[in-house]
Amino acid sequence: MVDLFEEIDKRRLVVNDYLEELFVKKEEHILWEMMSLYPQAGGKKLRPFLAMISAGAFGIDEEEALHLGLSIELIHNFTLVHDDIMDQDELRRGIETVYKREGISSAINTGDALFALAFKVLTNTELEGKAFRELLHEVACSVLMVAEGQEEDMRFERTFDIEEDEFIEMIEKKTSFLFRACAKGGAIIAGASDEEKRSMSEYARKMGIAFQIQDDYLDLVGDEEKLGKPVGSDIRSGKRTLMIIHALNVLDDKKRHRLIDILEDENNTPAEVNEALEMLDRCGALKYAKDRAERYAREAKEELEILPESDQKELLKDLVDLMVRRSS
Ligand code: IPE
Ligand code: IPE
Ligand code: MG
Ligand code: MG
Ligand code: MG
Repeated sequence: MVDLFEEIDKRRLVVNDYLEELFVKKEEHILWEMMSLYPQAGGKKLRPFLAMISAGAFGIDEEEALHLGLSIELIHNFTLVHDDIMDQDELRRGIETVYKREGISSAINTGDALFALAFKVLTNTELEGKAFRELLHEVACSVLMVAEGQEEDMRFERTFDIEEDEFIEMIEKKTSFLFRACAKGGAIIAGASDEEKRSMSEYARKMGIAFQIQDDYLDLVGDEEKLGKPVGSDIRSGKRTLMIIHALNVLDDKKRHRLIDILEDENNTPAEVNEALEMLDRCGALKYAKDRAERYAREAKEELEILPESDQKELLKDLVDLMVRRSS
């Protein structure tokens, strides 16, 4: 029996060592110091883990997917630097956000530089021309999808007329696609068949949706210390999450209007944020979201049936459970 936490910890050490090496230049240039802030502040490093285990599940040495994992982790960090500007959050991985510390312009530049560094790192992957082009295409398309998702996420803040399907599509883009690039990318590196690549894609797509629903849930009820990022931020900034969309569908008119008032008020107080949270709990929206996340998780695991039995297959299954039950 393999222990998921031990296995994640092991890979995290390897990933952190590589990241450390990438940022030695930070002593010489302020840009590199800013670029190193998030990668060196912590983070679960789940994406590199997923890339490596996915490759290993097809019988190759998982190290062959290390640079893919590092590359996606850097892209993830780039999106976090920009996401914190978009969401105006001041805390990330327990430290001050880049934009809060250095200003919006420098944070944009820092994110751009991390984005470029990611593709530089990706070129270290040992792959022949055609397969490498396929991998590059997958990674580049994923970032485009994240950008589409982030744009939709921001625009949703301006309307209360959002269907649940549209919301799921948005989180699929902003969150699942980087997980997909890891899982499918690992399969590409391993020379897997089209059907296998499709299953790994679907696995990560469903897992990513469950992961983001849990992220939104933790934003309501999580522990700021454990998360290293603010709790209640989504209500303060009026984000439309699955819980909010469900509540707006089931609350009576009076309560619905009260919830909308709180979400629209840019200066809502901690007491009002709490009031909204209680409304979401009482109307069953929290439970509804948890159930949906569990359903996506179950469906994600079913996609793995295509894989031969192995430790990696078990880890991929356990990873899904961790993603929907995590507290950080
Ligand atoms: C946070 O991702 C951003 C989302 C897609 C919700 P993680 O929860 O993986 O963040 P880190 O890397 O562990 O900090
Ligand atoms: C996902 O959404 C972020 C990205 C795609 C970068 P959130 O905005 O909820 O992520 P957190 O909660 O700030 O980490
Ligand atoms: Mg966001
Ligand atoms: Mg955010
Ligand atoms: Mg969040």
